[in-house]
Amino acid sequence: MTGQPALEAPLLSVRGLRKSFGDNVVLDDVDLDVQPGECVVLIGASGSGKSTLLRCINLLEQVDDGVITLAGLDITDPRVDADEVRSRTGIVFQAYNLFPHLTVLDNVTLAPRRVHKVARAEAESRALAMLERVGLAEKARARPDDLSGGQQQRVAIARAMVNSPQLLLLDEVTSALDPELVGEVLDLLGELREEGMTMILSTHEMGFARNVADTVCFLDGGRVLEQGPPAEVLGAPREPRTRQFLSRLVS
Ligand SMILES: Nc1ncnc2c1ncn2[C@@H]1O[C@H](COP(=O)(O)OP(=O)(O)OP(=O)(O)O)[C@@H](O)[C@H]1O
Ligand SMILES: [Mg+2]
Repeated sequence: MTGQPALEAPLLSVRGLRKSFGDNVVLDDVDLDVQPGECVVLIGASGSGKSTLLRCINLLEQVDDGVITLAGLDITDPRVDADEVRSRTGIVFQAYNLFPHLTVLDNVTLAPRRVHKVARAEAESRALAMLERVGLAEKARARPDDLSGGQQQRVAIARAMVNSPQLLLLDEVTSALDPELVGEVLDLLGELREEGMTMILSTHEMGFARNVADTVCFLDGGRVLEQGPPAEVLGAPREPRTRQFLSRLVS
């Protein structure tokens, strides 16, 4: 021991990540570090690779090259148990993807019971605790179609958190919502962040990005062009491409 305070190791580390679909290079040498408790917000034009990056981290896409390390484990190693990794990286999509024929409670318990073989009583008790957390315990027996869009998205967030993930990935989770329902979901994400949840989220809501992000990461053509605190990247961007992107949003 040197007596020096140890630098905190990143919870997630992405190095040299490359991903193509055919000839289309979608992620081009992406590096990203996420510290425990950090909220990283991905911004960038449509097609810049935000969703693909989140999907690679959740092992929904196979990477072509590079390494993703989660809590010290190389999750791009083909020998890892992908289901186990996914239970440590909850993901929420723009379209909440709830099963309409299942109750809210069954939607939330499905993965723990089917994939992780958690007993029903245990899975339901965890799910109810999460539904309570997102303010929807009284909707446990309802069907998704009987809930508002904002409520359905909060169920999807409860589902993503039911295995107590180390990292929460959120892909434009408010962009399918009616404007008056956006606030309740953004408020919930702000609370989770205050509670120390480590998050990577993509959004086109720059006001939200400014409020919740510790780090804003601007993707352009599959590359991280600029990253830093919101006051820098959103307030005083260095790169002309970032300035151009932000000016198009406000005009
Ligand atoms: N499964 C796929 N097969 C082929 N091409 C894909 C696939 N998924 C994404 N792409 C392509 O990868 C590129 C990046 O897409 P991605 O969805 O990651 O962008 P994005 O930044 O999330 O965009 P948006 O803001 O519109 O959500 C696009 O050119 C897209 O057409
Ligand atoms: Mg996307």
